[in-house]
Amino acid sequence: MLYRALRPLLFGIDPERVHEIAMSALAAVEALPPATPFSPTPLVRNLWGLHFPNPIGLAAGFDKNARLPHVWPRFGFGFAELGTVTALPQPGNPKPRLFRLAEHHALINRLGFNNEGANAVARRLAQSLRRPATVPLGINIGKSAVVDLADAAEDYASSYRQLAPFADYVTVNVSSPNTKGLRDLQAVESLSPIVGAIRGVELPQGRAHPPLLIKLAPDLDDGALRELADFALERDIDGLIATNTTIGRPGIVNQTETGGLSGRPLAQRSNEVIRLLRRHSDARIPIVGVGGVFDPDDAFAKIQAGADLVQMYTGFVYGGPSAPRRVATGLARRLEAGGFASIADAVGSTCG
Ligand SMILES: Cc1cc2nc3c(=O)[nH]c(=O)nc-3n(C[C@H](O)[C@H](O)[C@H](O)COP(=O)(O)O)c2cc1C
Repeated sequence: MLYRALRPLLFGIDPERVHEIAMSALAAVEALPPATPFSPTPLVRNLWGLHFPNPIGLAAGFDKNARLPHVWPRFGFGFAELGTVTALPQPGNPKPRLFRLAEHHALINRLGFNNEGANAVARRLAQSLRRPATVPLGINIGKSAVVDLADAAEDYASSYRQLAPFADYVTVNVSSPNTKGLRDLQAVESLSPIVGAIRGVELPQGRAHPPLLIKLAPDLDDGALRELADFALERDIDGLIATNTTIGRPGIVNQTETGGLSGRPLAQRSNEVIRLLRRHSDARIPIVGVGGVFDPDDAFAKIQAGADLVQMYTGFVYGGPSAPRRVATGLARRLEAGGFASIADAVGSTCG
């Protein structure tokens, strides 16, 4: 209610500035004693040996520098993906680079992985995670802008070496539209050496590798998606995240800003990609569904299409602090109404 009242005011301010203000305000909350995760029984999910109190997570890009790992469960999130972090610190693209399309419930961003770099983020997490997180934390890694595509494997491996010790899972992001050439790394020939270099990293104290996920673009054609699902099975990739933002502008006219579109207009393609990946892999690869989740029906649609977990970014911006808990609560009701005893029973139920 409060957020709804404040929203017109906040939406009158530059969106990136609002984000910075919100992150600074939340820094005080980070120091509070841990919140009990929101976990109604049917929403519990166990995956990759991890306990997810509920399947609604914060999508990558919101907490790029892993400043607030303890805050996200307070909003009802059952997990959070931090990053994208790159091996080298970088400022990102010139501002303005984040735009609201309020009438479409969408955002366009061309931030370009603005972040403090793997070393600084690892040092921050070494400090903050002395107090263990109460929900699983993924860390999303991307390619440094100044590094050639040909040298991407070592760049990803460098981020991985520094950050994997703090991650419950690691996501290889090869799908942001805002780093030149990045999405070309989704070609199996390019992805293969990246996965090889990451798997070759020796973690300190003989620590086991966390689950490895790959995040995909919605703009890939279906043939490329099938190849990637095959690749994931062959190389024992633990999960796929579908999807990143789109360079398409479905249903949107008179919009000239470049960058990745997120929010409502992305939901349909994201669901198609989830369904295709699930069918093509015979449900053998867990899928994290993301793109246009605003309410419980959106989350349920993704789960029924084949998502084991769901994330939200734009829906959190538009819906405010109560949105994740509202989505999770409504999801539990829909499971009950549909006669599903647990989330796991509903995954892929409309996938065919
Ligand atoms: C402002 C903004 C920044 C983002 N930054 C990242 C990022 O750093 N890494 C990443 O993998 N995805 C990033 N994303 C994509 C989201 O994680 C998500 O895949 C996409 O926005 C679709 O979900 P949504 O419709 O719920 O926003 C970003 C999205 C937005 C809107």
